[in-house]
Amino acid sequence: MDGSQASNLKHNVTYDDLRDYIEEVDKLGELRRVQGATWEEDIGMAAELLLHSETAPCALFDEIPGYPKGHRVFTNFFGGRRQNITLGFPPDLTKFELSVAFNKAYQEVVQRPLPYETVETGPVMENIMEGDDVDVLSLPTPLWHEGDGGRYIGTGSFNVTRDPEENWINVGTYRVMVHDAKTVGFYISPGKHGRLHRQKYMDKNIPMPVCVVVGVDPLSFLMSSSEIPYGVCEFDIMGAYRGQPVQCVIGKHTGLPFPANAEIVLEGFCYPDKLHSEGPFGEWTGYYGNPEHNGPTLDIKAIYHRNDPIMLGCPPQRPPEEQSRYRAVVRSALLKEQIEAVGVPDVQVAWCHECGGGRMFTAVSIKQRYPGHATQAGQIASQCRLGAYAGKFVVVVDDDIDASNLEDVMWALCFRADPATDIDIINRGWSTGLDPSIHPDRKEIGDTTNSRAIINACKPFHWMDRYPKVNTPDKETYARAQEKWGWLLNTNQPPPK
Ligand SMILES: Cc1cc2nc3c(=O)[nH]c(=O)nc-3n(C[C@H](O)[C@H](O)[C@H](O)COP(=O)(O)O)c2cc1C
Repeated sequence: MDGSQASNLKHNVTYDDLRDYIEEVDKLGELRRVQGATWEEDIGMAAELLLHSETAPCALFDEIPGYPKGHRVFTNFFGGRRQNITLGFPPDLTKFELSVAFNKAYQEVVQRPLPYETVETGPVMENIMEGDDVDVLSLPTPLWHEGDGGRYIGTGSFNVTRDPEENWINVGTYRVMVHDAKTVGFYISPGKHGRLHRQKYMDKNIPMPVCVVVGVDPLSFLMSSSEIPYGVCEFDIMGAYRGQPVQCVIGKHTGLPFPANAEIVLEGFCYPDKLHSEGPFGEWTGYYGNPEHNGPTLDIKAIYHRNDPIMLGCPPQRPPEEQSRYRAVVRSALLKEQIEAVGVPDVQVAWCHECGGGRMFTAVSIKQRYPGHATQAGQIASQCRLGAYAGKFVVVVDDDIDASNLEDVMWALCFRADPATDIDIINRGWSTGLDPSIHPDRKEIGDTTNSRAIINACKPFHWMDRYPKVNTPDKETYARAQEKWGWLLNTNQPPPK
């Protein structure tokens, strides 16, 4: 299947909630059930192995010592063949085909968000803790990495907030640390929508209502952790993608909506003057990028959860791992679209490479049409909504290079780019304190900007025709070589008669 065939595939999300999803992957043969793993060490250690493997199954941990049977943790949803059903496609697509197919589906739904509906109640209200009964420690939150400053209940989660001036609802994934039975804390990078909301509440010196939703289906989680446009409620994109509105219960204390079929919801307030030390937390860069710092807290007024709740765990790790795998599929699709949306023609493939955590190393292939075309594509890839945050290297390559193949991209970089003339630098880009290469003194004064290298690894436009010819066979010759000599690669196969 090529890219154009993949873009004609229709998506169909076959699960409604996390439980349905787990059943689906079980049918696919990609689920392991584990009993007796500890929250202190075992679950984090197992996640370290699972999330680093593209083919590993997902795991459902139950009977976690110290917790009732049935209080479960589920990890590694994006891998194997199940990553395709996560986005509503047949299980046998390659990651590139999946990205192309997702792009087509997403572009249609983002044009017509489907507003969420409110319902009186739902499974998430099966158990309610309020007042003195609130106890977030009653849930089996793992310690994900041994050097973490605490237990992070919010990894495969999202925060729901309302813009106090413009009134729209944002849904964003931001890490959430357990402080004590009634308090959690979170970290939101400058510029993220949830952070813009919080800033507005702080400027008015009023508490910010927040719901933290822990344990949702993977599609909802992917939308909450993707760069959906400003002012758009991610629930409405989730609904449009499924073809049916997300059913939300309205929180009694905050008036905020949360999915009626979520597993666990923490509802409460973030007070402008209340800070608590947060972190460190092992991050998607593979480092403890941010030292422990004073961060915002959530005073929990209520916890709602289903019977036998399941926590979705997506701990970040050194890339490439689960997070970079889904970023590559989802963000690459959105990036290509955003480069084209501002009028750059003939973009073939954009790929947010897994080795850079799906953010810091991006390749874009174009069919060069005019002088300056490659520079334009590279600068926009680096600064559009999708590429701007935490980017670092963008490499632009010709259309004979597979931009999703790291070795192909590096070959182009080595043999088509000249460092002295083909690298443009942008200074003071929008980045994050999680970047370990930013000096601590700069982070301390809030300067978390970084520089960008945009590398033109295309054949120089003006003398493309005189560029030495490549010495690899063309597609037809290669196919003939495979047909005639392919048996040599397989030591068990006898020579043809
Ligand atoms: C597992 C996971 C954890 C994340 N944690 C954070 C975080 O702690 N802080 C943050 O600012 N962004 C975090 N992100 C990235 C944001 O979810 C992402 O940028 C998203 O687009 C933010 O929502 P917004 O665009 O509505 O601000 C995380 C993403 C994932 C997948």
